[in-house]
Amino acid sequence: MKILLIGSGGREHALARGLLADPIVEELHCAPGNPGIGEIATLHKIDISNNQEIVSLAEELQVDFVVIGPELPLVNGVADALRAAGFPTFGPSKAAAQIEGSKNFAKEVMNDAGVPTARSATCATRQEIERALDLFGAPYVVKDDGLAGGKGVVVTQDRDEALAHALSCNKVVIEEFLDGPEVSLFGISDGKTVIAMQPAQDFKRAYDNDKGPNTGGMGAYSPLPWAPSDIIEQTHREVLAPVIAEMAARGTPFVGLLYAGLSLTDHGIRVIEFNARFGDPETQVLIPRLITPLATLLYKAATRDLYGVELQWREDSAVSVVLAAKGYPSAPEFGGAITDIPTIADVEMYHAGTASSDSSLVSNGGRVMTVTGLGPNLTEARNRAYRGISHIALNGSFYRTDIALNASIAEMGN
Ligand code: AMP
Ligand code: GLY
Repeated sequence: MKILLIGSGGREHALARGLLADPIVEELHCAPGNPGIGEIATLHKIDISNNQEIVSLAEELQVDFVVIGPELPLVNGVADALRAAGFPTFGPSKAAAQIEGSKNFAKEVMNDAGVPTARSATCATRQEIERALDLFGAPYVVKDDGLAGGKGVVVTQDRDEALAHALSCNKVVIEEFLDGPEVSLFGISDGKTVIAMQPAQDFKRAYDNDKGPNTGGMGAYSPLPWAPSDIIEQTHREVLAPVIAEMAARGTPFVGLLYAGLSLTDHGIRVIEFNARFGDPETQVLIPRLITPLATLLYKAATRDLYGVELQWREDSAVSVVLAAKGYPSAPEFGGAITDIPTIADVEMYHAGTASSDSSLVSNGGRVMTVTGLGPNLTEARNRAYRGISHIALNGSFYRTDIALNASIAEMGN
């Protein structure tokens, strides 16, 4: 099978390795990719915000299957364009990707499907905004309705800050604060059947102890030894299956990866958000743990053939730590030389914001690399990830030192 993978992050590097590990894959192409992906796949420089460029590349290469990584092309409708041109595609249609593209749409789907989520109000005027802020109280949760690249959500005790953010949005969702540990749990769907993956936890704030601004994600780990033993079944039953059924009933079936961001509150599971694609950096801990051949799995989803498939997982734990460029997330510095990417057993080095310049490697994004350690438990996986990342030299770069720390301490206490 000849596959075209769209995207250029650490998530896509992990997907690329996963796809190539499946014997069904004969050729892997990636657009635009990054130098790490370029070591294992053929790269094509195209503008992935342009649907026609993606379709033309798929036609030129005569690929059998297309896998879409990031949300932007999905929300732009590239999956519809590819399917119309005859390509099996892993990734939802434009209409189904609205579950990530519009917070208000996601709320409507959840309400219609009876899926537990924070109570919310969608507001257009200052009066509506102020009423909603006072109804739900502090901490205030204010969400830009549209895609905002991780910058759309403000959670704050400060009513003035909440109001200012709300007024800066075109359409805004204000909701109740959910108190509980966050879990990312992904469902792979063919539009009818949905299969839950294992849970992971993401670290969203830039600095240790959950300080600093929100980011795309600074690290992740899986499995979650502290999570309820039935979390996969419960999330499948209460969240994933009802949403997939609702999307099908609306005539906009969701084919691809449904990312459920959950809060495990005292009152049970609540959905914080949905995404329409694999998470980053959660994918970098899940894919190395997945035994089930990835290309076959995603192809079955794309061709509506998932019924009866069960996932197999390694017993191993995985911990990923993101190396961020100086200034990330507000103003990351690009162009710094990256040296000393080591090769270490049970450590995966995933490129994200990297580029080649005069045959050397330089930073080219806020999140530069993801380093994943694997081991028989979180403590060993964590040690390997940190040993790996400590070797990489990039001026001014930083990473969190507390990824999976509490879970590792709890695990050692057992
Ligand atoms: P989102 O873009 O919806 O994932 O929001 C980004 C982050 O804001 C989430 O990962 C949570 O940490 C936080 N957040 C969003 N909604 C809520 C909520 N209702 N209660 C508490 N925290 C929230
Ligand atoms: N790790 C969060 C996300 O992918 O949106």
